[in-house]
Amino acid sequence: MKDILRKAQSGKYAIGSFNFSTAEILKAIVLAAKDLKAPIIVSTSEGEASFFGMREAAALVDAWSAVTKLPIILNLDHGKSPETIKKAIAAGYNAIHFDGSHLPYLENLAQTKRIVDYVRSVEKTFDRQIIVEGELGYLRGSSSLHKEALKIEPEDLTTADQASDFIKYSGIDSLAIVIGNAHGVFAQGEEKLNLERLAEINEAVGDSVFLVLHGGSGIPSGDIRMAIKWGIVKININTELRVAYKDALKQELKESPKETTPYKILEPSFQAVKKVVEGKITLFGSNNKI
Ligand code: 13P
Repeated sequence: MKDILRKAQSGKYAIGSFNFSTAEILKAIVLAAKDLKAPIIVSTSEGEASFFGMREAAALVDAWSAVTKLPIILNLDHGKSPETIKKAIAAGYNAIHFDGSHLPYLENLAQTKRIVDYVRSVEKTFDRQIIVEGELGYLRGSSSLHKEALKIEPEDLTTADQASDFIKYSGIDSLAIVIGNAHGVFAQGEEKLNLERLAEINEAVGDSVFLVLHGGSGIPSGDIRMAIKWGIVKININTELRVAYKDALKQELKESPKETTPYKILEPSFQAVKKVVEGKITLFGSNNKI
């Protein structure tokens, strides 16, 4: 599974990590990737996982991999505790993101290192590679539409020195960084990336780690392209999928108020999510990489 990210790193494209919380959203993501011949990561946050079920998510992703022959990484997004991480690994996830970014730096480092040690110790037992992602910096927002303007403070950003120190001492495979990105889509003010900071981080860490950009929704395409050029290899998308799903559902319920067949009601949402995923895969350059 790490090869998927390694190839993206050397080929200068990024793998999309798309969140799901229902079976038809997962289906839309997988079929978009299949049509475009793209490796993908599918993710559940703690909330999404508790709605869907971790064992159920792993079983369905296995089924989709077998049917489509696509390389699909199942990732736990923003796991906040060792218990959730252990549960996800036992359920069959092959990537976990431990988010200790709310902790003081040294505590984040110590807890992330404990997670890495745990993962390395169980990889043999489970007979599979598990990708571990850590996080540094203060990532604002939540995966929804925000009326207020986004305000990012200079101290929110990940620094190059801390990033290289954190990677060295924790042993993580991937690092989520904050460079002007935030969760959600903001009605006022653009999510402008600080590409200079990214270049500094890239210079300091080289290819010792896979750099990850959370909060991919709402970032201008030009910034995304530059971020990939400067070493970002995984980009997380959630809000734009949620909005596409909800808007299509609202429209469908308005247009066909008498319809009661779920697969008919949900078809426009499925198509809308698939279209967003196709656009992101093309933007990230991960199409035709299988
Ligand atoms: P967006 O909701 O901004 O797309 O961010 C998703 C994300 O980063 C999930 O971890």
